[in-house]
Amino acid sequence: MPTQLITALDFFDMETALANVDRIGPDCAWHKVGKQLFTSCGPEIVARLKAKNKKIFLDMKYHDIPNTVAQAVTAAAKIGADLCNVHASGGPAMLEAAAKAGRDAGITVIAVTVLTSMDAAELAAVGINASPAEQVARLAELAQKCGIAGVVCSALELPVIRKVCGPDFLTVVPGIRPATASKDDQKRVMTPAEAAAAGADFIVVGRPITKAEDPAAAAAAIQAELASVK
Ligand code: C5P
Repeated sequence: MPTQLITALDFFDMETALANVDRIGPDCAWHKVGKQLFTSCGPEIVARLKAKNKKIFLDMKYHDIPNTVAQAVTAAAKIGADLCNVHASGGPAMLEAAAKAGRDAGITVIAVTVLTSMDAAELAAVGINASPAEQVARLAELAQKCGIAGVVCSALELPVIRKVCGPDFLTVVPGIRPATASKDDQKRVMTPAEAAAAGADFIVVGRPITKAEDPAAAAAAIQAELASVK
């Protein structure tokens, strides 16, 4: 399947988020609702996006005991999300419970491995004496074994994830910048075409679209770039 675009709606209020969705228009089918927007607006934002026929990645990164995470995944499906995520470091029992809840409720569940804000020193501070790359590979493999459908990962991690988990494991990749866009606070970025060529199933793009003078044109340009990759 060609790489699909998800636009991140990192806003505080519903009307700004929905106005942005309208400005982006039909060139983006998927939108990411994260902790900022969901904490501000609650499930109504998901319902309002559904009413616009959008698909929703609910990026809440659940991390709790297995029963609680399973119920949260069920709730995410009930409010209409299509894709949600959990922290792989929650462990096998939690991952299995999340995967089962997702299958039962009809929502795709992916995992976060190591936050890209963590380096080797940060991992060591929480008792993990592996490099970020080793830990990413270990957690991706564990998530897959537990029935999780894929991972959120940086473009730089795509090769190792593909090697460890094979071609059918979903990869959702933020940290994307078209060659002409500002990097904002992202440090290691790839262009949409580079991420597509590296095998990303989805790319997550926020500010290069939402802060563009013409968001529809920015989304269309990214779609054209993705389509140019075989
Ligand atoms: O505006 P920008 O394109 O940088 O937004 C990227 C989105 O992806 C944000 O919602 C951000 O929280 C999320 N994200 C990220 N890097 C990660 C994981 C998630 O930028 N490693």
